[in-house]
Amino acid sequence: MDRRKFLNSMSAATAATIAGAATLSEKADALEDAMSAGLAKKRRMKPPGLCNVDGGPEVIPGDTRPWLQHDEPLLPKMPEKPTLIDFFKLRFEPADHILQSAKLAMDNGEDEKVILACLLHDICAFRLINTDHGYWCAQLLEPYVEEEIRWAIEKHQALRFFEDLSVGYEYPEAYINYFGKDYKIEPYLEKEHREAKNHKWYMTSRKITINDLYSFEEGVEVDVDEFTDIIGRGFKQPKDGLGFDSSRSAHMWRSFIWPNNFL
Ligand SMILES: [Fe+2]
Ligand SMILES: [Fe+2]
Repeated sequence: MDRRKFLNSMSAATAATIAGAATLSEKADALEDAMSAGLAKKRRMKPPGLCNVDGGPEVIPGDTRPWLQHDEPLLPKMPEKPTLIDFFKLRFEPADHILQSAKLAMDNGEDEKVILACLLHDICAFRLINTDHGYWCAQLLEPYVEEEIRWAIEKHQALRFFEDLSVGYEYPEAYINYFGKDYKIEPYLEKEHREAKNHKWYMTSRKITINDLYSFEEGVEVDVDEFTDIIGRGFKQPKDGLGFDSSRSAHMWRSFIWPNNFL
């Protein structure tokens, strides 16, 4: 920001401090301090999340102060060796959608595999990435869940768009509202659906979409602690903590922990 713009935008208190400085040099220092404080605040106010559309902190020519790295002041600090439940409580919240989905699967009498798949099916959409989220979630989870769960989560991306009336799954009304009646499904999703339909794990993935569809319920509060045992049996928690176990997706977990690491 240039000085003129800064002077126009500064608060009355800041202006009074600068005006009260005795000498021209002190006034310049006071102005410089106020600009620095403003810049620091601006850096720290960037919205947490990997997909910052403005591409990182503002670069000021000649500015040598350190960029914001590691802990994001707007987010709670994570433990040194974070568990999946820590991520639910400190990064995914509010995670009503996935918690309600898992609870619905539980109430519907689904087996643990399906309940865990429902609990995890959208986790990357919470402060990481929305686009192609089924594939991102599957990659994020691949080292920690059995292959059937990984596969089911990946394929739910495509199956959501295709009805299966034999098990009561209709094309979501919400999608008509979002995309319109004439929305044309991408060919890659049609191909994925065709292939998934004939796969031995088709129904595991389909059940994610069945429990997904009706899980947006106002006022239904579900605590992740209700799933502690299921997570304990089905999720391989690394002893070094998620993000620090050198797995193929450790960097993705670290991106949740430190979403604004500049380099
Ligand atoms: Fe999803
Ligand atoms: Fe979902």
